[in-house]
Amino acid sequence: MCVVTTAQPRTESLDVQPTPLALLLLGREADPRSERGVECPGDLPSPSDPDLVERARAAKEKLGERVFVLGHHYQRDEVIQFADVTGDSFKLAREAAARPDAEYIVFCGVHFMAESADILTSADQKVVLPDLAAGCSMADMATAEQVAECWDVLTDAGIAERVVPVSYMNSSADIKAFTGKHGGTICTSSNAKKALDWAFEQGEQVLFLPDQHLGRNTAVRDLGMSLDDCVLYNPHKPNGGLTVEQLRAAKMILWRGHCSVHGRFSIDSVRDVRERIPGVNVLVHPECKHEVVTAADYVGSTEYIIKVLDAAPAGSKWAIGTELNLVRRVAQAHPDKEVVFLDRTVCFCSTMNRIDLPHLVWALESLAEGNLVNQIQVDSETESFAKLALERMLALP
Ligand code: 13P
Ligand code: SF4
Repeated sequence: MCVVTTAQPRTESLDVQPTPLALLLLGREADPRSERGVECPGDLPSPSDPDLVERARAAKEKLGERVFVLGHHYQRDEVIQFADVTGDSFKLAREAAARPDAEYIVFCGVHFMAESADILTSADQKVVLPDLAAGCSMADMATAEQVAECWDVLTDAGIAERVVPVSYMNSSADIKAFTGKHGGTICTSSNAKKALDWAFEQGEQVLFLPDQHLGRNTAVRDLGMSLDDCVLYNPHKPNGGLTVEQLRAAKMILWRGHCSVHGRFSIDSVRDVRERIPGVNVLVHPECKHEVVTAADYVGSTEYIIKVLDAAPAGSKWAIGTELNLVRRVAQAHPDKEVVFLDRTVCFCSTMNRIDLPHLVWALESLAEGNLVNQIQVDSETESFAKLALERMLALP
């Protein structure tokens, strides 16, 4: 039974600051250096065009083997139906790297994922993001300037030599390049433990960017650290708001970034669902706050969430704390299980939802007509260092 709620979103107070860039800027003259892009230059088909599905199918068929469409698990149903492969950000990075024959990789996901695909594919392959405004507010919380300043702070504190940067996939190519340049690796929510194990073999401390929650949850749950081993670096405060002693004593220096979607789940959502549905299993993404992850029964990436549900017995009950498109699909795929959304309010990722059928049709038809649109291209210097960091991740055991 699918009992996903359809109430309107509620604004909850988070223990973190909101992103400095208002979501209203999306797609309209947004900061071109941020994850958010610019206005779509093309003539989009009308969303009410009854032939959109047929048009997407025909354009894809015309392109044949020349195009490969990747779809992240948070994408809308109308888009995901055209994906050649679906997955979490780790699986999609590997899939992009494993398609050397596709001339075009159409990435139905967000900007940092398309950048990573461009870095991992060859120079003659073109990566296309159907809507340039599909960014990630978390990735925007760590800019190249802020991270360079942070490294100066660590250098002045005399610890930069022993700090290894570990950056979440949800970061810009600039941050990935910084990570590669300073001997670090990228991680995703499926391999964060392995990445931290690797990093602590290379150095004594880790600078974890930009998701404080994934960093803290992995350090405490998987590596057995205490919360006191972690400090929070606030890029909006002088010296990150930390003393030299705090910086030197910490094992994990966590960047003060978070996901605005997963940040909505609270300990009250967990208590509430346990009261409403006795025997429910709570399954959440590691981008949720530490108290939520601690109160949950299972924690893992989007791909993990799907696998757990596939293996669950009929009649079992599940409350899932991740983006709503994925939770709805999981609920539909398992009518023999009770699957509910962890919070009572709707929780779509607004930027993932930017990619809709009109944008996909426009991108595919443009490519089929020989017009390359919305190409995501990382400059060669950034690419070489970012690739180093991504390849370290792909080589993790
Ligand atoms: P996954 O790595 O689990 O796919 O998550 C990506 C993401 O953006 C989650 O918010
Ligand atoms: Fe970024 Fe959160 Fe959306 Fe994932 S769900 S793309 S982390 S804003």
